[in-house]
Amino acid sequence: MQQNHFFSFHLGRLQLILLSPIVERRKSKEGEAKKANTMEAPPTVRRSRSTAVSQPGPTLAFQVHLETTSSDPVSPSSDDIAWLKSQLARNSIQEPSSSTSTWHSLRKGINPRTRAQQLEDLGRFKGISHYEGDEGSNHTALPCPGELLVEEHHSNYGEPWAGGRDVFEFLASTVELKPSDDVLEIGCGTLRVGLHFIRYLEVARFHCLERDELSLMAALRYELPSQGLLHKRPLIVRGDDMVFDRFGSDVFYDLIYASAVFLHIPDTLVWVGLERLSTKLKPEKGRIFISHNIKFCSRLGGEECTKRLTNLGLEYVEKHTHDSLLFSHYEIWYEFQKLRA
Ligand SMILES: C[S@@+](CC[C@H](N)C(=O)[O-])C[C@H]1O[C@@H](n2cnc3c(N)ncnc32)[C@H](O)[C@@H]1O
Repeated sequence: MQQNHFFSFHLGRLQLILLSPIVERRKSKEGEAKKANTMEAPPTVRRSRSTAVSQPGPTLAFQVHLETTSSDPVSPSSDDIAWLKSQLARNSIQEPSSSTSTWHSLRKGINPRTRAQQLEDLGRFKGISHYEGDEGSNHTALPCPGELLVEEHHSNYGEPWAGGRDVFEFLASTVELKPSDDVLEIGCGTLRVGLHFIRYLEVARFHCLERDELSLMAALRYELPSQGLLHKRPLIVRGDDMVFDRFGSDVFYDLIYASAVFLHIPDTLVWVGLERLSTKLKPEKGRIFISHNIKFCSRLGGEECTKRLTNLGLEYVEKHTHDSLLFSHYEIWYEFQKLRA
């Protein structure tokens, strides 16, 4: 295979390829999808299920149904997608137009407001019907700031909000997550991804360490109540120091993940985090997943990185990509596990 990588090295038995041009990755992804379709065994350390296989033609097939006590499947099936298409056809919903004016011409009798306008309206009118004067604050258990009500925080991180579901589906299906499993997210932000885990997992099984006050405010004061998830009692802790004692000394995780976090923080802090996290993984099943890139590792060089991981009792498993259901996009994830004896 012709390669055009900026950087490539061996990590243990596995070749880890970093900083390859996107086009190269897309080609290899198509290759992977073809391989999956022809049932060839993927070159992996352990068997892992691909959650989302791009197929040529109009139908996306997402077919992961985990064995779970919950009746809800993790990912849509091809029947679900076919049903969705039938509903679009039944209601004569045409293909979306790329022209803004045609797009807006679809709207009949609806007057859209931007978030800024909604926020202004909230400040001025407080909604259509509202209590006045002394009564004004008596009817809401925990009034939510207007900025959160208009969901400004859904645009805080650049990624589409809906991508949180893709991440959940990929991670949950890859590790074959059960509702009784324990999950820790590093940097859960406004719970774009975390909400889906919280909904799926049993009470108090989702933990998160997050440093940003505004994100925590959005997560706690808006997302959990508005999604009806307060009863799930997630343990969300404020901190930026990779200290996990606050989650309890006797908790061990089936899955620890960092979505779009480690690429933003200093390498030294990532290594401190990994050292502590390696002791919090459940033996055998426990996995750490890191998104986007692992430059904290590649910057050291392959051999040195492997040595440091080994010293921490960790090993690199494999690199994954997964598709989005809603937009043409895929994300890269790196998987680590406890070193096997
Ligand atoms: C790009 S956002 C991603 C948020 C979320 N994981 C998602 O995928 O929507 C990165 C998040 O990591 C948090 N973060 C950065 N450094 C951190 C640290 N040292 N400890 C905890 N959280 C951190 C930021 O505050 C931010 O919420």
